[in-house]
Amino acid sequence: MKIVVFGSDGQLGTDFVATVKRGGEDCVPLTVEDVDLTDVPRVEDRLRKVRPHAVVNCAAFHDVGQCEEKPDLADAINRDAVGTLSRLCSEIDAKFLTISTDYVFDGTKIEGYTEADSPNPINRYGVSKLAGERLALTNNPKTFVARTQSLYGVSQLRGKKTNFVDLVLKLSKERDELKVDQCRMAPTGTACLAENLYRLLCSDRYGLYHMSCQGATTWYEFACKIVEMIGAQVRVTPVANDFFPKNFRRPDNTYLINQHLAKIGLDFMPTWEDSLRQYLTARGVLV
Ligand SMILES: NC(=O)c1ccc[n+]([C@@H]2O[C@H](COP(=O)([O-])OP(=O)(O)OC[C@H]3O[C@@H](n4cnc5c(N)ncnc54)[C@H](OP(=O)(O)O)[C@@H]3O)[C@@H](O)[C@H]2O)c1
Repeated sequence: MKIVVFGSDGQLGTDFVATVKRGGEDCVPLTVEDVDLTDVPRVEDRLRKVRPHAVVNCAAFHDVGQCEEKPDLADAINRDAVGTLSRLCSEIDAKFLTISTDYVFDGTKIEGYTEADSPNPINRYGVSKLAGERLALTNNPKTFVARTQSLYGVSQLRGKKTNFVDLVLKLSKERDELKVDQCRMAPTGTACLAENLYRLLCSDRYGLYHMSCQGATTWYEFACKIVEMIGAQVRVTPVANDFFPKNFRRPDNTYLINQHLAKIGLDFMPTWEDSLRQYLTARGVLV
């Protein structure tokens, strides 16, 4: 398969490109320097010239606070560009895989969210991503939308500078205490996510999927587990979810359940603990 990957140097994009190359695919990785997704004529030109069998969109504007400040840019990248890509894929008869987020939900459900639950985003990021999902599924019948959450990967997290695991690794050397909130989710490593996305892309089971690691936890418990695994001495203290002021509303519980993936026999996501262990090993922190 000839696969074009947008956002190829992001956290997920980096692991996805490595995964499809290992699978022997003809991969065309594109960064924002190669093609800015808001430059529609350039996107059209590139896809018409390359004529890929599949387009994978790992690009996004996902700094949630910045999305509140720059809603037009959030809409341009997370909604309109996804609309453009899916329309073009339909024209050239290509598969389209785009990544979405747990932030399409309001976080009020006590149990986890399945694909059957109604989205109700409570911030501009979530609104723009949900609009992108809907355009993608409408424009091209060969679309996969994969909602995921709380990502960390070996490539530096470009949008936010550092991911949560690396932040805990760094701060546990510098501080005596870490204060961490208790929003509930499933932290997900981009290495295992990329592999599961690739399996899905190789199928023809188009539609909407949740794809995160197995098992729910909180950011507080996640930090405790990182500290335990690396044997750091830092104290981890749970704080209320609104302890750190933000300029956006944050959903409290967005744990995703991979119900559709399980139904089609393609849920190979590990537990969040195994994914963390794999990441710390890849980072050279665990042997
Ligand atoms: N990170 C999370 O915790 C999380 C949670 C749920 C869902 N997601 C979704 O997962 C996907 C991957 O996220 P990630 O963590 O891998 O993000 P990331 O590391 O920030 O990567 C995003 C990539 O998109 C590129 N990009 C931004 N604007 C662009 C534009 N206008 N044109 C072309 N490329 C552009 C970025 O380039 P520059 O850095 O050079 O701007 C970067 O390479 C996104 O769809 C995100 O919404 C992420």
